[in-house]
Amino acid sequence: MGFSKLWLEHKKLADTRKRVIISCDHTLKDSAAFDELKTAMRTMVPDAIVLWKSEVFDDDSYLIVLSVHPELEAEEYNIAASSNITEICGGSETGVLYGVFAFLRQTALAGGFASFTESAKPSQPLRMLNHWDNADSTIERGYSGKSFFFVDDELAVNERTVMYARLMASVGINGVVINNVNVRGKAKRLLADDYADRLEELGGLFGRYGIKLFICPDFAAPITVGGLDSADPLDDKVIEWWNGCCKKLFTKVPNLGGFLVKADSEGQPGPFAYGRDHADGANMLARAVRPYGGTVIWRCFVYNCTQDWRDLNTDRARSGYDNFIPLDGRFDDNVILQVKNGPMDFQVREPVHPLFGAMKHTKIMAEFQLAQEYTGQQKHVCWLVPMIRDILAFGTRHDLDDDRVSSVVCGVAAVANTGDDYCWTGSELAAANLYGYGRLLFCEDIDMEQLAEEWAQLTFGEDEQVIANVKEILLGSHKAYEDYTVPLGMGWMCKPNHHYGPDPWGYEFDRWGTYNRADRDSVGVDRSMSGTGYSGQYSPAWAEVYGSPDSCPDELLLFFHRVPYTHRLRSGKTVIQHIYDAHFEGYEKAEHFAKLWADLEGRVDEQIFKNVSARFEEQLRCAKEWRDIVNTFFHRLSGIDDEKGRKIYN
Ligand code: GCU
Repeated sequence: MGFSKLWLEHKKLADTRKRVIISCDHTLKDSAAFDELKTAMRTMVPDAIVLWKSEVFDDDSYLIVLSVHPELEAEEYNIAASSNITEICGGSETGVLYGVFAFLRQTALAGGFASFTESAKPSQPLRMLNHWDNADSTIERGYSGKSFFFVDDELAVNERTVMYARLMASVGINGVVINNVNVRGKAKRLLADDYADRLEELGGLFGRYGIKLFICPDFAAPITVGGLDSADPLDDKVIEWWNGCCKKLFTKVPNLGGFLVKADSEGQPGPFAYGRDHADGANMLARAVRPYGGTVIWRCFVYNCTQDWRDLNTDRARSGYDNFIPLDGRFDDNVILQVKNGPMDFQVREPVHPLFGAMKHTKIMAEFQLAQEYTGQQKHVCWLVPMIRDILAFGTRHDLDDDRVSSVVCGVAAVANTGDDYCWTGSELAAANLYGYGRLLFCEDIDMEQLAEEWAQLTFGEDEQVIANVKEILLGSHKAYEDYTVPLGMGWMCKPNHHYGPDPWGYEFDRWGTYNRADRDSVGVDRSMSGTGYSGQYSPAWAEVYGSPDSCPDELLLFFHRVPYTHRLRSGKTVIQHIYDAHFEGYEKAEHFAKLWADLEGRVDEQIFKNVSARFEEQLRCAKEWRDIVNTFFHRLSGIDDEKGRKIYN
């Protein structure tokens, strides 16, 4: 299948110059930075010839000077641009590449060569995407077609992968995990010779774009690949096997950054089978990759997924903290723990994971999910970037001057929302998540309105009506989705397994630890100190706020507390009235967004218009289901009428 260039579809500038001269030394001439600039200039200034150095420099020329300045940090860049000359310097080839992309972005947004200066270095050192692609080319929680990394058990390196690397580098992504954390089928052989040549090739391509390649290994590989009878991380034979495996792999694939590991979680193998703990498992791998500068990213998504719903004491939300806090300080320094943004599983609203504030002697990174598993599966518009911004800005460790999540983590990852669809993300609007995520990690102060506008303009062109409508849709989309699905932090009212559409008790009598405990009087889970004690996993100030229904923020009330339907929120509304209002208003907002999009007919590309319109139709159908089923569910249970007398199906 063909593919779109998304925001790198460079558009022609109103510039009639005859020459664009790119001046740089020989090394940079072979770099991705030079290629990107050359390719872009040929499209943006089609009447000009693009030259590498030139004797002629006159009024008909535009000069761009690229250089590496080692005194800058490797990924840092400075741009000084004017109407006839621009200088871009970076701390390394990657820094220059980021500078080139920034220059192209500003030039496209200005519609021509403009005067500006820009200095930037990334807010987060590690800016990753985790693909949940399987070797058989299916994608776990994929909503955009099949894998473009794996085609029928083979690893593909082709024009699409090149475009992928370009797109990712253009928003500053510098680490990519290519396969699913649940290592299935032939992916188990990523560590064997089977994939070595292709991994080398892909690693080389990524390296040119400043991206480290990561893979998810099978923790049981000493058995499944090596033929040993154990994968015990403290067994000498196992250690020796991993050492040998890594030596071969990292020598062959020098741009391999390391491993991402899901162990002892939802059926994946891990150290528990041998009576060992997560630190034993992670450190064993960390020592095997250390000689090559490798990193082991170890996931903290560990909980009991065979819980009995009758058991009111076990609380899944507690499990990350309970499993990992006793190990704080025991991990090697090339281990990073990867913690989901909230304690459950990428719900539309969860509190910030307490491990960010509590894990004080271990490297830690945050994991988000751009794949919209629980947020509308890329049929509903749900722009997640403002939520990610808010979570990174959350003050989590009150013992530090700068206690924001963004400053206690050493990196951020997100589950990718891409596939082999023409537009990469199923819906063209879902690409705003991919774009915005990268831009935010590079520049955490970026203004959300500006970001939405920037993406809309680079994607759809400069029609002001298009930019305004798309911006309004994006900015309001997360709140609308939350309102018509599960407001007040309830979570988990979706259909089991595929997680799309409403089913208020779908997870209520199941083994996953995901309950709302709604009855005729009350709803919510008591996670205060008199309940499961989860609120006590936060620093004292937050523990106090979350610990009482009077101080708990409304949007998280039912996550932390079990309250009667007549409980008054801080907003002054009762819980039941809020549930009704949110569902009616959320649906109305979705209708409004669909209308804003419909108004753009003839202003955006026809194919895009049709694809997104069809998704809005489905969003409205599904939002209505959510509204009516959740409202009816609570009306039947509580017997309390909507004070505004709207239609509830009873
Ligand atoms: C969710 C998701 C799974 C995934 C898991 C994980 O539970 O539904 O498909 O494997 O997260 O993050 O490992």
